[in-house]
Amino acid sequence: MAWYFILFKQLFNAGAVRQISDIRPVKWDDGSIAWINQTKLPWNEEWKRSKSIPELAKAIKDLEIRGAPAIGIAAAYGIAISAANTAGGTEAIMKSVEKDAKTLGETRPTAVNLFWAIDRMLKKARSLAKAGAKHDMIAYELAKEAQRIQEEDIESNKMMGRLGNKLIEDGDVIMTHCNAGALATGGFGTSYGVIRTAWQEGKDIEVIATHTAPLYQGARLTVWELMRDGIPATLITDNMAAYAMKNAGVTKVLLGADRILMNGDVANKIGTYGLAILAKHHHIPFYVAAPVSTIDQVGKKIKIEQRKPDEVRNILGRLIITVPEVPVLNPAFDVTSHKLVSGIITEHGIARAPYSSSLKRIASGK
Ligand code: MRU
Repeated sequence: MAWYFILFKQLFNAGAVRQISDIRPVKWDDGSIAWINQTKLPWNEEWKRSKSIPELAKAIKDLEIRGAPAIGIAAAYGIAISAANTAGGTEAIMKSVEKDAKTLGETRPTAVNLFWAIDRMLKKARSLAKAGAKHDMIAYELAKEAQRIQEEDIESNKMMGRLGNKLIEDGDVIMTHCNAGALATGGFGTSYGVIRTAWQEGKDIEVIATHTAPLYQGARLTVWELMRDGIPATLITDNMAAYAMKNAGVTKVLLGADRILMNGDVANKIGTYGLAILAKHHHIPFYVAAPVSTIDQVGKKIKIEQRKPDEVRNILGRLIITVPEVPVLNPAFDVTSHKLVSGIITEHGIARAPYSSSLKRIASGK
């Protein structure tokens, strides 16, 4: 590119303010939880509201609320609701909170943020009970704690955006998978937070989003967010990834995570592992962005959620595309070896290999 063109572009970008959208997929709404029903996007922006734990648990299971940090935040609100819903003394409240925590914890097994948020809420409830707090105080303090979890998540996303932005160069073509945007978090995005920060900073980037079969979080949700933000985007089917890496100028792969082990292995949406292998073959850096709440500091193995076969036999429950009785494999996530990961962007810094020491430092906040 000629020097005068680069200079013109820099001067132009310096004056331009790129607006990005503000979406919070879950909200505390005067004692209820409100959420945007993500199964209806991008066609309908339907908001739901509930004070019922079974309804909330179903919404998480059915992916009306989805994405690792967002389901943790939703469960935290659920625990606050559980305390408010229960009449009686501290013992009755604690019994109900522990029971509802179990129900919420059984919704999805892979994303560690769910268990992290439930644990944090239970610890808070137990310490309030131990200190002799009464019903209204417990309910009030738990609602505040859940709201804090959401605010902290947004802040850590923004920090990841600032740190990750240093890896993004003008002219990057970034391939992403699934949705790790505002919809999947408290409200800014993990890997998509990095992309939107780079865009806001005036960087000239493009995004290639995969469909993300079988539930199409890439096509339905990431594209929806990209279009709202005005970020140049191209959609591909999952089986076009190798072609795009070879022929469409992909310079980075950047995506989120549902659980990261201390050795750097990453569980994320099914198909991530394949993208990591393809990136390695094409010498393309493969980055993961996730908050510290996604790091599993104790586990050694990751339970992969197996979902209903009909999600594969049908397209979004609308069109049967095969013989109805065909056996199906439907793992929602896969695990990518740390050997394929170029770096893990967190709010406390970017972890690099060897991950066992860099993640230890990051998880301890040092
Ligand atoms: O099944 P989903 O839609 O909940 O899966 C979500 C993902 O795999 C995301 O990539 C991951 O949670 C990171 S979100 C910040």
